[in-house]
Amino acid sequence: MSVDNLSHVWFKVTDLEVASGEGSWVTTTSGERYLDFSGGIAVTSTGHSHPHVTAAIAAQAQRFVHAQANVYTHDLMQPLAARLCEITPDGIDTFFYANSGAEITEAAVKLAKQATGRPNIIVFQGSFHGRTHQAMAMTASKTVYRAGHAPLPSGIFIAPYPDVRADDLQDEISRALAGFDELIMSVTAPNETAAVIIEPVLGEGGYIAAPAGFLEEIARRCADHGMLFIADEVQSGFGRTGKMFAIEHYDVSPDIVCMAKGIASGFPFSALGTRRALDDRWPTGSHGGTYGGNPMGCAAALATIDVLGTDGFMDHVNARGQQLADGLRLLQERHRSIVQVRALGLMVAAQFDTTTRTSALVSHCLREGKLITMTAGAAGTTLRFMPPLTVTAAEIDLAVTALGNALDEVM
Ligand SMILES: Cc1ncc(COP(=O)(O)O)c(C=O)c1O
Repeated sequence: MSVDNLSHVWFKVTDLEVASGEGSWVTTTSGERYLDFSGGIAVTSTGHSHPHVTAAIAAQAQRFVHAQANVYTHDLMQPLAARLCEITPDGIDTFFYANSGAEITEAAVKLAKQATGRPNIIVFQGSFHGRTHQAMAMTASKTVYRAGHAPLPSGIFIAPYPDVRADDLQDEISRALAGFDELIMSVTAPNETAAVIIEPVLGEGGYIAAPAGFLEEIARRCADHGMLFIADEVQSGFGRTGKMFAIEHYDVSPDIVCMAKGIASGFPFSALGTRRALDDRWPTGSHGGTYGGNPMGCAAALATIDVLGTDGFMDHVNARGQQLADGLRLLQERHRSIVQVRALGLMVAAQFDTTTRTSALVSHCLREGKLITMTAGAAGTTLRFMPPLTVTAAEIDLAVTALGNALDEVM
């Protein structure tokens, strides 16, 4: 295959050319099968080409491919909103649609500014919210995402995130909260701060779940000061952590929820969920987009939610996540290069001691184990696993074996 006509701006995890995908597997144009534990970066929630999802997309394509949301409302928009209302946290009852995660974090900021009349936004160290200018400015997980793009939008302030590897976690949470308090006392006053946006589990930042108590304290400060709490669930939502949304692991009621990736099993689709009272303060016409609410995306999302809602689905996610974490912890007993194993549902990571070792492991898994994995975190020392939520026990075993073999051979 010639790649001469393609941009080289894409960072490549593999040089595989994929011809088809099914469940947890992809087949290349040269006929090799790979176990895809990248899940298209936590997107293929129901696996590659789940029959219920592809049938819904195909059936919708026969009816109409595009129905522009400003021009008319098509007949899947409200049914999807009603389903999202059932599965999102209490109080979230109003939905806006777009196509990607970055568009939805941008939309959340636009809504927050309009609803509060305040200009600033607080984000957290280690966060990733997308690659558009606003989303880039809100991203603090790796310099490469921002470098060379200045000037970035202003009015974005970065609060500390607790280091979950600290010996005294309570102390570390207090330190991070003190940093937050310092920020709203000395840099961005609450009455100038529209919202705080946070990933309940840092994704690109290294698969780090917020420690218990931290999000609740941030949410309390938001409520006290009229700042909106935005949960960026682009990567952690739709069952990835063993609950429909990661925020359900915490005692927090977000004002805005950002959804994308797993929502439509890979069809480009995203949604913002909020309260009707906040949406009422979003002036009609102040936001929109040509493709938002695409009917095939709505069909894919409805079908995806059907699959995620089948009996025992979340039990399956939790069981497979536990199996993977247990497997990694067993490897950790033999290999001291594994510094920490972190898991919430099927958002699973093993952190290693060095970047070189981590990338050597990714390469070995790919070459010898036919296993696709990715790294995360600023230093690239975290190996993350994002298999489809439909992954089988046998496939988890294959992945753990592949990593075990790699660890035996990579010095
Ligand atoms: C938490 C989070 N927010 C936003 C985004 C941006 O989504 P997209 O790449 O669809 O624009 C990502 C992508 O990885 C993400 O993980």
